[in-house]
Amino acid sequence: MSASGTKKSSNVVWHQATVTRKRREDQNGHRSAILWFTGLSGAGKSTLAHAVEEQLHTSGVRTFVFDGDNVRHGLCSDLGFSDTDRVENIRRIGEMSKLIIETGVVAMTAFISPFRADRDKVRALVNEGDFIEVYCHASVDQCEERDVKGLYAKARAGEIKHFTGISSPYEAPEAPELIVETGSQPVEACVDQVLAYLEEHGVIVTAKQYALHAAKGR
Ligand code: ADX
Repeated sequence: MSASGTKKSSNVVWHQATVTRKRREDQNGHRSAILWFTGLSGAGKSTLAHAVEEQLHTSGVRTFVFDGDNVRHGLCSDLGFSDTDRVENIRRIGEMSKLIIETGVVAMTAFISPFRADRDKVRALVNEGDFIEVYCHASVDQCEERDVKGLYAKARAGEIKHFTGISSPYEAPEAPELIVETGSQPVEACVDQVLAYLEEHGVIVTAKQYALHAAKGR
């Protein structure tokens, strides 16, 4: 699909895999899902995603984190920060995440993803329960006070145009699966909140159950 949403290639036929998502999930001993972290720049999306990944990986869960800054070095290096480019950025990451969950992996994405409609489009791409929207809540003031990358200072000085929260909008989720207070809570508390959600919703099993699964597979 192109940015406009029209498919340009014709005579392409979907090939059905024999190794299915279900078989991969069974082999892994956990479900796959997209954990979609959204929030302002500097809200702590990447920090939280990587901290969650650390815990999951240590428990034997297969994971991968897609990070906005990193993806913009490669796959999305042709995109800037205009509204149109941000829409295309999120469309690509959404399609990529949809492919990744077919691999049985827990995909985590850390993108500002400022527009509600774009996040909802990703949600609509996958089955119910596959898209877990995690709103990393931190106010502009909190992010600006931290200003880890020094970007807020530059945006205030007019050196960066269309900066989210300053000169470009951020549309907070209306009904996210999770709200984590990354602006005021320590990262460990936010990690626990995410892991608890994943357990409660049967994406991962508890460490004890996982050990049993691993033992059966030996
Ligand atoms: S998104 O809006 O398209 O989802 P994305 O998450 O990929 O953004 O990239 C955001 C990161 O790019 C920020 O964390 C910041 O480091 C950097 N950045 C550079 N310019 C801008 C800008 N104008 N607005 C927001 N972030 C910017």
